[in-house]
Amino acid sequence: MHIRDILNDSHIDSTVNARGWVYRARESGRLVFMVVRDSTGIIQVVVEKGVVSPDEFELAKRATIETSIEVEGKCSKEQKAITGYEIHATKIRVYQIAENFPITKDKSDEFLLDIRHLWLRSREMTAIMKMRETVLDSIRGFMKERDYYEVQPPMFVGGMVEGGSTLFEVPYFGEKAYLTQSSQFYLEAFMFSLENVYTISPSFRAEKSRTRRHVTEFTHYEAEAAWVNNQQMMDIEEDMIIYIAQSLLTTNKEELEVVKRDVNKVKTVEKPFYRYRYEKVIEIGRQKGLQLSDAADLGEKEERTITQDFDKPMFVYNFPTLLKPFYHRPDPEDPAHVLNHDVLAPEGYGEVIGGGERIWNKDELISRMKSENLNPEDYQWYVDLRSYGSVPHSGFGLGVDRLLTWLAGLDHINKVIPFPRTMRRLKP
Ligand code: 4AD
Ligand code: MG
Repeated sequence: MHIRDILNDSHIDSTVNARGWVYRARESGRLVFMVVRDSTGIIQVVVEKGVVSPDEFELAKRATIETSIEVEGKCSKEQKAITGYEIHATKIRVYQIAENFPITKDKSDEFLLDIRHLWLRSREMTAIMKMRETVLDSIRGFMKERDYYEVQPPMFVGGMVEGGSTLFEVPYFGEKAYLTQSSQFYLEAFMFSLENVYTISPSFRAEKSRTRRHVTEFTHYEAEAAWVNNQQMMDIEEDMIIYIAQSLLTTNKEELEVVKRDVNKVKTVEKPFYRYRYEKVIEIGRQKGLQLSDAADLGEKEERTITQDFDKPMFVYNFPTLLKPFYHRPDPEDPAHVLNHDVLAPEGYGEVIGGGERIWNKDELISRMKSENLNPEDYQWYVDLRSYGSVPHSGFGLGVDRLLTWLAGLDHINKVIPFPRTMRRLKP
């Protein structure tokens, strides 16, 4: 049985069994008290001398933290027990007495990263991994409702999407390949048959910046839709973020409590989100004391200051063309700006989404590449997509890890990634 299923009145006085790992143990004369955990919860187990066999009692006395066990016994209600119920063991089997577990209270974040393979067992990490699952699940639920198809783009690619400085090069049978920075171009190819597509895939960036929101490998949720313009894409994202936040609030009450999230801050994520042109946001930044030039690129620090006292996300739209990669569609009425947007999460978290309209005219795309000193031949297949019935379309990329960091109210992206990868960390 799973522990969660034992924790209710229907099992009182009947025989139950549980397997898992010892969370705490103490001995008191004829009794050994243990708290046992499995993936679903924790429960107190009492092992009494004379009730179990002498061998079993001796083993129970030796049980250390993380010892793996199986117990059978009678369930009772017990106010003093950690979760209100207790198993009085009649049988106990010890699978392995654990060696001295290296994690004790008050270890540094750095130490916990070094032993992430063990720290994954903590209540905090378990709660976060469960919330991660809810986020991924609700993305898929939302996309299904909107008739989007999930597709699988390649991770080994031949070119860049988001600029050369963060490109990982890998040897590839005597040629150069790269790890994908974004699946956007492939989604655009899928769009011509499936119209509305998305993927949840890793993206890689050779990020040298050490901030609380940058890793070298992240989970990227990207979507692309035919016939959709920049403003309509923002409408979809607004609904999507609210859908995910609501799923988390209903599915993960317990987990949000474990990470001490103030859930009122998630409940305020409602329509409408703020929508400001880029220039307005620069203005807001200046009012908050930032020194910003007219076409400033907003980084971690700037976005933190700008969004600190916001209670829900903010769209920043129509950035200066010169700040953005070649594929963004310049506004035909104002070509110095592109029809794009970022979503900045509130409470200082900053950018979680980048998206917008794509240039769908072939000549316009080629001329934008040339003005960025890119060779259109390097993007031959991407340009080719504009040769056969091109249509207006938009898309976005959302950093799943950043979204969860914000929704769970955590202080660093590496808390929501099971095995985070940074410039200085490849292990465990
Ligand atoms: O803003 P970015 O670079 O946009 C793109 O890659 C587009 N091609 C996406 C698209 O339109 N299909 O990245 C999108 C999002 C960011 O807003 C951020 O949430 C996340 O990906 N992201 C990172 N997350 C963690 N660590 C990093 N180093 C990240 N780089 C981007
Ligand atoms: Mg961006």
